[in-house]
Amino acid sequence: MPVMPRLSSRLQHFTDSVIRRMTRINDLHGGINLSQGFPDFDPPAALREAAARTGREGPHQYAVTWGAPRFRAALAAKQSRFMGLPVDPELHLVVTCGSTEAMMTAMMTACEPGDKVIIFSPFYENYGADTILCGADPVYVPLRPPDFRFDPDELRRAFALKPKALVLCNPSNPSGRVFAREELEIIAALAQEHDAWVITDEVYEHIVYPPFRHTYIASLPGMFERTLSCSSLSKTYSITGWRLGYMIGPERALEGARKVHDFLTVGAPAPLQEAAVTALGFPDTYYDHLAALYLGKRDLFLSSLDAAGLTYTTPEGAYYVLVDASPFGWDDDLAFCEWMVREVGVAAVPGSCFFHEPVNHLIRFHFAKRDETLGAAGKRLATLAEKAAGIRTR
Ligand SMILES: Cc1ncc(COP(=O)(O)O)c(C=O)c1O
Repeated sequence: MPVMPRLSSRLQHFTDSVIRRMTRINDLHGGINLSQGFPDFDPPAALREAAARTGREGPHQYAVTWGAPRFRAALAAKQSRFMGLPVDPELHLVVTCGSTEAMMTAMMTACEPGDKVIIFSPFYENYGADTILCGADPVYVPLRPPDFRFDPDELRRAFALKPKALVLCNPSNPSGRVFAREELEIIAALAQEHDAWVITDEVYEHIVYPPFRHTYIASLPGMFERTLSCSSLSKTYSITGWRLGYMIGPERALEGARKVHDFLTVGAPAPLQEAAVTALGFPDTYYDHLAALYLGKRDLFLSSLDAAGLTYTTPEGAYYVLVDASPFGWDDDLAFCEWMVREVGVAAVPGSCFFHEPVNHLIRFHFAKRDETLGAAGKRLATLAEKAAGIRTR
């Protein structure tokens, strides 16, 4: 084998994304992809038209590195309205390439190599990699299935380790939890007592099912000064490919974050920032319709799971559901998901990739799909138990 220089040892501490790997396996077998969370329907027509217009008329060159002024102004106005905080577009935000870059920027802005970062488990798989890439050490606090609540004493013990930050995904992928205000108050009190940052990922802020309500932890008393709120337009406007995200936080932290962002990516796509000003101007009814659309999809998909005899934790927000695969008797959830794509024709994500603890009886489906796609997936899942029984009796 030809010799090549050694690669960074960082790479040994995380694998490539299991979620995106399941998408590739699904593509090989032509299954229905309920693994990687993105819609199979179009964004709003007004937004597509705005993108066509900027495609013709520009801008086509770099925007201001921390965000095009028109985009920042529209975003600050919208977020001030929903967060109940005065977000100043000149001081309190940076526009990034998705929440993915915002989270990495937040982590690099807040943490030194060797710092500890609390991560609730199960967690969106980027957080482990983000922490490792910036040289910090994750401290995992379990959200135990099936209700995915944290034990305040366990969280207190994690804070006693003097973490620099806590990562909060709310509404949560993959658990579907929408943290109650009282839970956020416990986190906020500990963050204040131990002088830690809270780094949020709130990409599902507008996908919440009644009676649950999203509370921005940055809006709790004393929290704006220690919260780096990350989110994006990906899920809210069904534009995951546009790569428009942002971080909101206090002025001094944002000065640092803008520097990190500048050297990571220079900036988010200029023509798409211009086009997305249209979305940021949508009336509040847009967000009500979005939540109602996903509530319909959630209930449609859950009824297929019920019909297939599967048990699950009902999501309070976001568009994922964790399903208990233990009745099928596999002890390797990745092998189970690979078998399911091949034999049943539906792709899910093996739950173990979201957990720090050895949990491998859960699989995650997402339901951000057209109703026809969900209906077709439901029909296939109805055959799951019988096909799995066939394997066991062979
Ligand atoms: C919790 C969470 N954060 C971030 C992302 C990626 O967001 P973005 O497209 O804004 O980078 C996803 C995508 O599935 C997600 O589920």
